[in-house]
Amino acid sequence: MITIAPSILSADFAALGAEVAEAEASGGDWIHVDVMDGHFVPNITLGPPIVKAVKAHTSLPLDVHLMIENPERYIPEFAASGANVITVHAEACVHLHRVVHQIKELGLLAGVAINPGTPASAVREVLEDVDMVLVMTVNPGFGGQSFIPHTLKKIRQIREWAREVNHTSLRIEVDGGIAEATAPLVAEAGADVLVAGNAVFGRSDRAAAIKAIREAAEA
Ligand code: DX5
Ligand code: ZN
Repeated sequence: MITIAPSILSADFAALGAEVAEAEASGGDWIHVDVMDGHFVPNITLGPPIVKAVKAHTSLPLDVHLMIENPERYIPEFAASGANVITVHAEACVHLHRVVHQIKELGLLAGVAINPGTPASAVREVLEDVDMVLVMTVNPGFGGQSFIPHTLKKIRQIREWAREVNHTSLRIEVDGGIAEATAPLVAEAGADVLVAGNAVFGRSDRAAAIKAIREAAEA
């Protein structure tokens, strides 16, 4: 089963409530929320108050992607604001294992993300502890970038490791440049959570956009 997570980074921030409600009505499964701090990535977006505001406009799980340094400082606040899934970057965590368990102890799903330049092995030692691995398919920071094909072999490798350790529920998420054309490639490699910003919010017919990505991934 493929999960489609529209990313609000490409939505109209002045109309977020309506945008999120429309993504839900259009068949989105999760709402992907990109948190950027201007340090870990060269862009600044939003924090817990916006997550809380978005939560009031949807019943879909909020998939919060923390592109921030020292994420452990902010995890409790994002959890209290309504996050259901929290993903931290392996590159931003000195004590990755501890941070993963911090998320799980709050009763949330825990994800670990890796940038295109980070090897798959960066998640290997926590693979059995996490609910999800996010393989970034662009360098994080901005919406609307082009998919990096080299990331496909990391998706395959992580899916293979998950099979080896019998972690059958592991979700593999991809984020960046996901659209109708790239969805079949990532799904074939083993990804099952597809984030799409521009490919959903950049189109006026969001339902058609989500349907096209889902059908391409499931074909
Ligand atoms: C990029 C963000 C993505 C972004 C994807 O740093 O993590 O979630 O919204 O945007 P698209 O789908 O437009 O590449
Ligand atoms: Zn993201």
